[in-house]
This record gives sequence, structure tokens and C-alpha cells, in this order.
Amino acid sequence: MFKRTRFASSFALIVSLAAASPAVGQTVADPLAPSGRWSLPERKQGRTPPMGWSSWNAFRTEVDEAKVIGAAQKLVDSGLAKLGYVYVNVDDGWWLKRRTSDGRMQIRTRIFPSAVGKGGNTSFRPFVDRLHGMGLKAGIYTDVGRNACSQAYDLHSPNLPEGTTAEREVGLFGHVDQDIALYFREWGFDYIKVDACGINVYAPGSAIVKQHAYTPVTPLIDQASINRTDVPAVRALYETVAHALERHNPDGDYIFSLCAWGSADVRSWGKQVGHLWRTSGDITPNWTRMLHNFDSASTRALYARPGAWNDPDMLFIGHGDFDERHLTEAQSHFALWAIINAPLLIGYDLRNAPQSLMDIWSNADIVAVNQDRGGHQGVIAYASDDVQIIVKTLSGGRKAVALFNRGQGQAQVDLTAAHLKFSDAAPIRLRNLWDKSTLVPFKGETRFTLAPRQTLIFEANGERRLADGVYLSEIPGDINVAADGIVAPEADPVVHRMMGQWSGTRDTGERPIYAGWGGAQADSTPYDQALQIAGRRFDTGIGVLARSRLEVRNTGGHKRFDALVGVDDSTRNTRDKVRFLVYGDGTLLAETAPMGFGDAARPLTADIRGKKLIEIVTAADDLRSDLPLVTTWADAALR
Ligand code: GLA
Repeated sequence: MFKRTRFASSFALIVSLAAASPAVGQTVADPLAPSGRWSLPERKQGRTPPMGWSSWNAFRTEVDEAKVIGAAQKLVDSGLAKLGYVYVNVDDGWWLKRRTSDGRMQIRTRIFPSAVGKGGNTSFRPFVDRLHGMGLKAGIYTDVGRNACSQAYDLHSPNLPEGTTAEREVGLFGHVDQDIALYFREWGFDYIKVDACGINVYAPGSAIVKQHAYTPVTPLIDQASINRTDVPAVRALYETVAHALERHNPDGDYIFSLCAWGSADVRSWGKQVGHLWRTSGDITPNWTRMLHNFDSASTRALYARPGAWNDPDMLFIGHGDFDERHLTEAQSHFALWAIINAPLLIGYDLRNAPQSLMDIWSNADIVAVNQDRGGHQGVIAYASDDVQIIVKTLSGGRKAVALFNRGQGQAQVDLTAAHLKFSDAAPIRLRNLWDKSTLVPFKGETRFTLAPRQTLIFEANGERRLADGVYLSEIPGDINVAADGIVAPEADPVVHRMMGQWSGTRDTGERPIYAGWGGAQADSTPYDQALQIAGRRFDTGIGVLARSRLEVRNTGGHKRFDALVGVDDSTRNTRDKVRFLVYGDGTLLAETAPMGFGDAARPLTADIRGKKLIEIVTAADDLRSDLPLVTTWADAALR
């Protein structure tokens, strides 16, 4: 759990680590220059969203070895492990102290008895070996600062770090190499979640620092203000961890989970640093909080791909609004996480799980939607505050579609061929992934009545509207937003504002806080408007600000790039002009003359035969206005 902080950020303490600005004399790469190559790190692990179990939502800090091994055993015995639930992650609460003589972290052996090591060197090796012996993988938890979240928020906990100020500094700060080597090389972990409370809540002069004699750390993160957050410093700290992980994992078998709760603009850069990054604050077992977390990730389809996933937080199925008496809600939570490629980490005491919940986690068809090898996050095809339709491209030309009733009343939902980008003329077959029924094929559209809070999820087969190719918005996993044109990060307002989880209505209400507003979008403008150029509407395309560059993998060996391009009618900047350029493997293939607001959409076609990487760039050489210039690649497709 965390609260917002409002402390001044002078960053003096940690800023030396922020090596983000280039040194004098060093040239800054032009973000719009074609790279000619896919510029994201190609990761071996996390090619599909990580799956498994975590102790946090089940036990908070009251985790122990029996509970974890019990969960692991149940994963194996129930068949969940075979379905892909293999990561068994110990969250906050495992530590006793940092030994000050040599800085080595000590495990609380009272709760992890197998960790009693030789010569007082406690070790998780036997525990990790045991999990590995069960065919599972092991995850551990730490913080990027000096102190962890529980040391501020779980003060009643029996398992808080003990000892002097220095002994209680269990986070990575000042010990990155030592800790990462210990956790991965010596103990053999396969997954690490790195939290950020240590750079957020231990401000000089704060009550928590005074009462518990922690070393004060000037916050690098102000969750309520991106302008008061030192984004490069936060990123640099996480990059330090990423580099240590590379060094201490010669086999590359690790997952790096960034837990900065959607702050510090991590929704834009997480893909460059780790395998997954939290897009929001903590989930709680409340329907409206689930909506909030879902919304923080569901609009970020173009920022995720194999090896790099949006993380709306762990599953809360089994608790509160998602317990066995609320199976409709529990099923919705699961289907939604599945279709937006969220990690599927169970947060329940599996030793005592009722069958009705086991049936949800073990729905192999829905897991398969999440784990589809293409890694294309579901894209929102219809949005309202009441109902959403989310469509995900699966391999083999199939689709998955979720119909989601967010509200308290029944909802009538018309699913159209256009939502699926299927032809109107050919029959569409739907298979219900909850009850496994196959529906009577329909043409054009079909109607469903959804119960309050219900999510129907189907596999859909039909004739693709683009028989000879793919729309770019159908393949977000093959797209890297290398530059999204955002000049000043802004908070994203398209996230459900639930009633305060920790403060009720005592403050003035939930505000938008996650930067990334204005980022590239599939089938929408960057500011959530319908795509429209000079009065002409488009239901598919890429919406992005000027001065952007997107890398698109031509995985299907397509021969032609096609789009209708122009300045979007929703732009606030109606003065400036933009050129649209298409590159193939670094060579300019096609471009438009400068285009401005009101110019009719122009066709842009490029011969991409033999080209592996297509780059689409919107260049604006001379901007006179500060207002964002919104551009649309309508009907953009590889054919
Ligand atoms: C933070 C994280 C949670 C959990 C707790 C542990 O709140 O966001 O997921 O790890 O810390 O204290």
C-alpha cells in the first residue's frame, strides 16, 4: 500500500545516479531518425505474460515457508503449474535485517526455517531448490531505495526488519550489486519485484522517519505531480538494477518487475528497462479499484509486447468483491486481465481454495488467450463508462473478444463485425470461453444481454476484413513506440476514479495521476477521440502526436504498407504542418508533403517487399504553436 507524498524534491541524495542526460560533447540521438532496427532489448524471458502466485494479496507480510510451499504444492497438484502458473513469488516480509559487518541480507528464519545457513549466513538456496525441484520458479521482492513499503505501511506487522537504522535498510540502495548477486547467483531466484517506497515515503522531517529513525530520503517520486517527480533519476535507479541483473544472470533466466505504481512516467519507459511495470497503485479487493487498475493498463496496448508487459497488479480473486460469493466479479477480473495481457499472479491461500475459484484460474481457454504467442494486447474496440468491448488478435488469424459490463445494471451489447475487423458478409463464429458453448454463427452483428458486472469472453473466427493483410492496430505486439511526440508528460484522465481506498471521502477525491496521456493509441487518437481527418471518420488506425516514430515488425513478410494520413480533426494545434514518412530497414520509401489541419486524408503507400522493419514517422520541422499536433495513420496496414 502507499499514499501520495507532497514533499519537495531536491533529489540531492540520489541524483548522482541519474546518468540520463548526455555529457558535454556527447551527441543526442535524433529520436525521429530511422533506427533501421528494432530498438527494444530482445528478451528471452517473459515472452508471454508471467503467471504464478504471489504471497502479497493472500498474506501481506504474514508470509511463511509453509504457506508458500503449500501454494506451490497446490499449483503442481491441481495442474495450474502445467497451465503456466510457475512463478512462486515471495513478496514483502521475508527479511530480518542487513548484516552491517558485510552488508549481507539476513532472512527471518523463524518464518523460513529452511533458510538457516552455515556460519550464520542465512540462505534461500534450499527453498529455491525445493521450488525448482517441483518444476516451479522462484521470485523475491525488494525495494529500489533504502527501506521497503511495509516499514511505512504495515507497522503492526510481526515481520518488519529489525535492529539499528542501518540494519533495517533492507532495500537495494547502495547494495544493488551485492543483493542482486546474492538473490540470483547464490540463491538462484528467477524473478524479482522491485518496489519504490524507499524513494517515495521516507522524506526528511516526516513522521515515519522521526518515529522509526529511518535515514531520510528526499523523495524522487511525487505521485500526485509528475512535475515534482525526477523521472530520469527514477529510471536511472531501475536501470542500475537492470544492469546488475544482466551481470548476475549469465543464462538470462530472470524476470524484472518494476513496481513504481504508474508513477514517474513508467508507463512510457518501462518496456525499455524491465519485463513488466506496474501501471497503477495497488489493487484492492474492490470492484471500483479493479476498474481503476484495469483502466491504467487497458489503454496502453502499443506500449507492451513479448518480453515487456503492462502490469495492472496481481489478481485479487478470492477476496472481497471477488470472493466465491461473487463469481461474476471474479470471472470479470480474470477475463479482463487475460485479454489485456496482464500478468496472471494468483493472490490467494491456495491450500484452502474452493473449487469455484480453482475453476476460474484453471480456465485453459482464457489462459491461452493471455498466453498467445503473438503477444498482442487486447485493444478497446468500443468504450463507454458502462460497457467496453476489447478485441485481441490471436495467432492463426483468430481473435478473442471480451464484452465487459462495468456497471450495476443489465446491459445490452451489440457486437459487430467491425469491432472484430471481420467482414460483414461472412458468418462469424463465437465460442464462449466460460461455458464452452459455440453460438449460432451470425453476420453483421449480434446482441447479448450482460448481467451487472459480467464479462463474456469468446474466441471469434470469421473472414478478416483485410483478407490480404493486417491493420497495425491489430498487431500492437509488433509495434514499438520509439518516440510518441509527448513534450510534457500529462496525467491520464481516462482511468476510473474510485472512492478513496485509504482515505474514503476525507479528501477532495481521486485525481488523474498516471503520466502517459497523449501516448500513441490503436484505433483512437492519443486523447481518446475517434480518428477523423477533414471530416472523414475512420474506425481503425494509429493515433499519435507529431514528432513520433513507430517501429513496426513486418513479421508476416508483407509487401505493401498502406495508410490514409493527415492531421486529425481533434488537434488543438490547427496552425502547424506535419510530414508523414515511411522507412523500410532504414531507407526512406515514401513521404507526404507537409499537411495541416483540414487537409483531406492522403493515401501513402510504400513497397516493403523484403523489408523486416518498417518505421512510420511524423516529422514537423518548424512548430510555431506549443499545442499538441495530433496525427492519424488511418487504415494503416501491412498487406
Ligand atoms: C507496495 C506494492 C505492493 C506490495 C507492497 C508490499 O505497496 O505496490 O504490491 O508489494 O508494497 O509492502
